[in-house]
Amino acid sequence: MSTVTPKIEFRGLSHRFELGAGDFAALDDVDLSIAEGEFVTVVGPSGCGKSTLMNAAAGLLTPTGGEVLVDGAAVHGPSPQRGVIFQQYALFPWMSVRKNVEFGLKIAGVGQAERRAKAQHFIDLVGLTDFADALPRTLSGGMKQRCAIARAYAVDPTVLLMDEPFGALDALTRVQLQDRLLDTWSRDRRTVMFITHDVDEAVYLANRVIVMAARPGRVHQVIDVGLPYPRSEEIRLSPEFAELRRQVWHAVYHQPTTLEGSP
Ligand SMILES: Nc1ncnc2c1ncn2[C@@H]1O[C@H](COP(=O)(O)OP(=O)(O)OP(=O)(O)O)[C@@H](O)[C@H]1O
Ligand SMILES: [Mg+2]
Repeated sequence: MSTVTPKIEFRGLSHRFELGAGDFAALDDVDLSIAEGEFVTVVGPSGCGKSTLMNAAAGLLTPTGGEVLVDGAAVHGPSPQRGVIFQQYALFPWMSVRKNVEFGLKIAGVGQAERRAKAQHFIDLVGLTDFADALPRTLSGGMKQRCAIARAYAVDPTVLLMDEPFGALDALTRVQLQDRLLDTWSRDRRTVMFITHDVDEAVYLANRVIVMAARPGRVHQVIDVGLPYPRSEEIRLSPEFAELRRQVWHAVYHQPTTLEGSP
């Protein structure tokens, strides 16, 4: 009997930021396993360490304690296996939408014709067909974010780490992109860790919702979402959905220290 290795595993993960004379515990002893093909959402009050947790998984931050394992191997830096979408969209300002989306594929050595076709597919998927040759500065915030999403999808990573990717989008685009993300996920079965402030979004997308608490940042509660896929408007309006939303809402907003000590 072999035990299944988690796709992503946080083991006793702690992180302290140095702050002048002292330091600040952003994360304290986080243990969390995410299975291959699982869709996990992470919610919690501002400053509870969600982005820090994701940056550690992305290999962009070396934690001061504990470790993150991906496929059983400790993370020591970024990898093309792990696609990252940042809270602050990061596009190359001198490259068109198309060039931005093609960038990762170029690095991966994908030939020009395939690069074009793949990039076009994901540009269409995020609804930027008419803006493929536009520069980022001519796009709205939401459009820039959609370009960043297309770029991350295009390289076909086995893990997608998404930090509030739909935060800048209007409600309608947001719902459309949630459905498209679930479509691609149910086909490709990537492992997704998705950070959001939106309780509806957290429940709608996930197999499991991780609720974090602040000061120090830690896992507060894990809520299993037993709703079937494909998710639909009918599910969004069901009593089961409402009950899960209530549970997550309660876990997030009835934490004793939510705004205490905020700067
Ligand atoms: N580079 C840094 N130096 C010092 N402190 C930091 C740094 N980055 C983050 N922090 C602190 O660590 C804590 C966690 O930050 P983090 O960005 O992970 O929170 P978050 O949960 O993603 O918040 P939000 O929901 O607002 O995005 C915060 O209190 C923040 O002030
Ligand atoms: Mg954040």
